[in-house]
Amino acid sequence: MTEPLLEARNIYKRFGGVHALENVTFRLDAGEVVALAGDNGAGKSTLIKIISGVFPPDEGELRYQGEPVALGNPQDARRRGIETIYQDLALADNLDVGANIFLGREPMRRVFGVPVMDRRRMRAEAAHALEALDIGLDRLDRPVRALSGGQRQCIAIGRAIHWNARVLIMDEPTAALGVPEQRRVIALIRSLKLSGVGVIFISHNLADIFDVSDRIVVLRRGVNVGERPTREANADEIVRLMVGG
Ligand SMILES: Nc1ncnc2c1ncn2[C@@H]1O[C@H](COP(=O)(O)OP(=O)(O)O)[C@@H](O)[C@H]1O
Ligand SMILES: [Mg+2]
Repeated sequence: MTEPLLEARNIYKRFGGVHALENVTFRLDAGEVVALAGDNGAGKSTLIKIISGVFPPDEGELRYQGEPVALGNPQDARRRGIETIYQDLALADNLDVGANIFLGREPMRRVFGVPVMDRRRMRAEAAHALEALDIGLDRLDRPVRALSGGQRQCIAIGRAIHWNARVLIMDEPTAALGVPEQRRVIALIRSLKLSGVGVIFISHNLADIFDVSDRIVVLRRGVNVGERPTREANADEIVRLMVGG
């Protein structure tokens, strides 16, 4: 078997008396979409926070591109190509689209020796990054607060593409979206997969999970209780794994 793109081995994480994760092992290959399913409190967000550098595991090993890694913080993960889109999206509402693509990594230029943000370059590169996404954004100088949920989600995905993410993690990406916008996000996930990105996709929506994933991993009370290739799985079986019994 080839080395996975990303692997979490025997991960444990406790919060006080709560075992959020107990001996969880998880792998992701390049060009693979893995859905992480499970009831509220199952440990899904905790697992992706460990994979995206928000906090370290209490025990266990994280491996990336064949090597053990210790991620100090989310910026560290992002620098290595692990991008995460959280439920709340983490876009800056009052900044325009270009600025959001560059958030925290703004290109600078010098004016009379003084470093200033290169806004024109940000907009040009943002336009290029978003062109491929076909999300019908006519203007990039509007604050993102004026945009729809689907457009915001697409900008977050555009940011990941622009920075050449190898792993894209999405926590409930379609939860707050209307149906056409959900379709667009699902289509984007498909095109990322084709370009070799590994995608981890958390969702409560079984239709989305079956639509877009290659494999389904089910967590229950912090334990990996089963995984199935999506094409061999059926919804009843996944729900049974999620609720137990
Ligand atoms: N920062 C935290 N502090 C204390 N408890 C937490 C924290 N994050 C998660 N937990 C607990 O860990 C368990 C798993 O939570 P979480 O990973 O958010 O589950 P999910 O995303 O599957 O709903 C829950 O019991 C939750 O209350
Ligand atoms: Mg969660």
